[in-house]
Amino acid sequence: MYKVSVCQFEPHLLDLDFNLNRMLEMAGDADTDLIVFPELATSGYVFQNKEELIPVAEDVQTGKSFTAFRKLCAQRNFSVVYGFCESSGDKLYNSAALVNPDGSVHVYRKTHLFYREKLFFEPGDTGFNVFPAKDGIPVGLMICFDWQFPEAMRSLALAGALIVAHPSNLVLPWCQEAMKTRSLENRVFSITANRIGTETNLDQQETFTGASQILGTKGEILLRLPTDSEDLLTLAIDPLLAENKQVTTYNNAFTDRRPELYRSE
Ligand code: ACM
Repeated sequence: MYKVSVCQFEPHLLDLDFNLNRMLEMAGDADTDLIVFPELATSGYVFQNKEELIPVAEDVQTGKSFTAFRKLCAQRNFSVVYGFCESSGDKLYNSAALVNPDGSVHVYRKTHLFYREKLFFEPGDTGFNVFPAKDGIPVGLMICFDWQFPEAMRSLALAGALIVAHPSNLVLPWCQEAMKTRSLENRVFSITANRIGTETNLDQQETFTGASQILGTKGEILLRLPTDSEDLLTLAIDPLLAENKQVTTYNNAFTDRRPELYRSE
């Protein structure tokens, strides 16, 4: 069995030190193999302009967050996935990093930017990739609004993901339910780590929907948090269940596909 955790909390806007400390504190003494934190967990979400993001933007290899998580993962022998504002030259990306106990790090840059994110971030250029987490378990990375596009999770499942880690800052009401279908149609586990709270920055305000969840390979809710409180919860799953794509004796969710009949345009 493999222990997976989802962490839901309320990041403080543009306060990297507070947010990082809160995550380290919540990870605390968790007995787990993998923790998923929310999207942009280190920076908050409601920005006015790109300039105010610069002080909380991080190079993945040298940033405070990676340095702290690399140490924590080695000490505690678990992997973490967290959302952060990535700087690369003068570009900013809405990214997620997977950090492993051996110090390795893998990055995903959000493909489908949501609403005003388009004012601050470059569209991600990494594509949808699957990386080995602790014990080599293949974990796919996608971020928040990527849920709207079935191709995102399908790409991760076709690439061999058994678990999809989905850091989020959800504001629309549909994702948690829609992810049941994403998990079911791909027969993979999904971990949506959402944030809570209302964040205000001058004339901009967003309220986040919480209800972080871990779903099984039939889209069933294995665990769901409340809409308004912080917590880190852990569950033991068998990731290898996600290798079974059989629907009936005669049907397989993957080998029955007819890509030659599908349109991408
Ligand atoms: C979102 O993609 N943060 C809604």
